[in-house]
Amino acid sequence: MALDGLLVRLLLVMAVAAAVASGVPAPPGLAVGFYNESCPHAEEMVFAEMQEIVRKDVTLAPALLRFMLHDCFVRGCDGSIMLKSRNGTGERDSIPSYSLRGYDEIDQIKAKLEKECPLTVSCADIIVMAARDAVFLTNGPWYEVETGRRDGRVSSDYDANNDLPGPNNTIVDIKIYFSFKGLGWKDIVVLSGSHTIGRAQCITFAEDRLYNYTGRGIQDPTLNKTYAATLRQACEPGLERDTTPVEMDPSTPYTFDLGYYRDVASKKGLFTSDQTLLDDPWTREYVERMAAAESPDEYFRDYAEAMTNMGRIEVLTGDNGEIREVCTAYVD
Ligand SMILES: *[C@@H]1O[C@H](CO)[C@@H](O)[C@H](O)[C@H]1NC(C)=O
Ligand SMILES: *[C@@H]1O[C@H](CO)[C@@H](O)[C@H](O)[C@H]1NC(C)=O
Ligand SMILES: *[C@@H]1O[C@H](CO)[C@@H](O)[C@H](O)[C@H]1NC(C)=O
Ligand SMILES: *[C@@H]1O[C@H](CO)[C@@H](O)[C@H](O)[C@H]1NC(C)=O
Ligand SMILES: *[C@@H]1O[C@H](CO)[C@@H](O)[C@H](O)[C@H]1NC(C)=O
Repeated sequence: MALDGLLVRLLLVMAVAAAVASGVPAPPGLAVGFYNESCPHAEEMVFAEMQEIVRKDVTLAPALLRFMLHDCFVRGCDGSIMLKSRNGTGERDSIPSYSLRGYDEIDQIKAKLEKECPLTVSCADIIVMAARDAVFLTNGPWYEVETGRRDGRVSSDYDANNDLPGPNNTIVDIKIYFSFKGLGWKDIVVLSGSHTIGRAQCITFAEDRLYNYTGRGIQDPTLNKTYAATLRQACEPGLERDTTPVEMDPSTPYTFDLGYYRDVASKKGLFTSDQTLLDDPWTREYVERMAAAESPDEYFRDYAEAMTNMGRIEVLTGDNGEIREVCTAYVD
């Protein structure tokens, strides 16, 4: 009897957690193939440009994937990350965005689309399509993207400084950042897997993880010692702005695979925000299961779902916002 009661409660908790994990409803105005009639070749054109971009410089694949996070978490997926501010108060000027790359590439794609279908495809949608293509071009899944977003006109460094989770966040903080955007634990653990491709600069983790864990002048005791020794060779202590790049998933740095989960499971997640996925029972179970998985199929399906959820954050559709001709217009 008692056991049955416990089981019912457990199932209930699981049902609630599952609901929270995939709880972002499709906003009206977003649809797969929104440009079917107004710009039928839009997605192919973005893909063709992305193929060129990634072929020339594979590091732009993770950069453009990160670009979507930075756009969507700050005032929603509205292209506002692209806007320029003469007085230095735009999203681009914020602390989390200082090393963001991809502005020129989004502009380049937009210019192509403007020639084919003027004032039709939003900067916000281009960012979402480019992120999807970046994943696919590094051997990740292909998935359908919803389009129909319109561009916002407001861009504030204050919002960017406050709304983006950072490398030194623990799971408690990350859950708060994500829940403000309507995303749950599954989105956190699945989207964190984006760190399967790309690099990070020493400055983003060296203090926290190698030299001054919680301000005590020590190495993070949860970090794999072998891995820490390698990282110490790459990142010199005390350099104010050490921009040396380190690969986030060293064994396959530009292949979108389960390597990230194997890293985290063996205490080789680069950031505190990676390592901390082991501190929560739900995210930990997912990390360990993916680390042991033989096929990435389940992960790829989850990734498509989580990216769709992120793509729905606070979007402008219908008559809201605008379709900007030049993504990098000035706001002031
Ligand atoms: C666009 O076309 C695709 C493929 O035929 C279809 O799946 C999708 O629903 C269409 N979308 C719209 C908004 O018409
Ligand atoms: C990282 O976070 C921990 C825990 O909140 C804190 O003690 C530490 O000072 C932070 N480090 C930096 C460099 O902000
Ligand atoms: C480590 O962090 C503490 C607290 O933030 C700071 O006071 C101290 O100067 C730092 N030590 C080094 C070696 O950077
Ligand atoms: C640390 O990394 C080494 C080398 O990759 C690995 O053999 C070991 O199992 C890891 N340690 C832990 C605690 O996971
Ligand atoms: C920067 O420009 C914006 C928009 O015109 C304005 O709201 C803001 O007060 C300006 N900030 C500074 C520091 O001049």
